[in-house]
Amino acid sequence: MADHSPVRTAMAQWAPEQLDRWASTIQSRGKASEAHSMSEVLVLLEKSAEIEDGSGVDQKEHCLQTATRAFRDGADEEIVVAALCHDIGKVFSAVNHSAIAAEILRPHVSRDVYEMVRNHMLFESRFYGGVLQISGPDQSRVPPTYLCTDPEAHKALADESWYRLAMRFTGDWDQQSFDPDYDTLPVAHFQPLLARVFDRRFYSVKFNSAVQP
Ligand SMILES: [Fe+2]
Repeated sequence: MADHSPVRTAMAQWAPEQLDRWASTIQSRGKASEAHSMSEVLVLLEKSAEIEDGSGVDQKEHCLQTATRAFRDGADEEIVVAALCHDIGKVFSAVNHSAIAAEILRPHVSRDVYEMVRNHMLFESRFYGGVLQISGPDQSRVPPTYLCTDPEAHKALADESWYRLAMRFTGDWDQQSFDPDYDTLPVAHFQPLLARVFDRRFYSVKFNSAVQP
């Protein structure tokens, strides 16, 4: 039998079934099905190959190389995955890419790994900060917080639980990974790790049917 119930086009009018389905999509990573965020990450990683910034390798190679070095140094699985993803935000924004990558990883990794990715530009600035100069924006705009020009800025974070991890990530893996002759592992090597990490969620969301709108 056809459903003749009116379409509820404003959120304030949604029926419990709509709210239930909506809450379910939040639980299943914002999609209408259990499609994996991993596939979207792989798309961004592929698109990173289009970014050539004069560093000697494209950004896909840089991400893979950073992850390869972390993997070969015995880093935890989620750190290797974070290394693989740490620069994929550059597909959207070079100046704010660390925050974009961190938010993609956030539901699936520890607080320390999240902060390592979110702040990695600030730690990387100890290798290049002194040569950059940023002008603007005016007071009405939000400045690019993560683009740092102070090579000493990381020292203010020395008491953070993730400080040593961020120092190692940027010093041993990230800033080293611009070598076109390095024996970098392919994407396929990291896919099982990526699947395991993105399959984890440290939260649960569901419609509370006891509270009727
Ligand atoms: Fe990087």
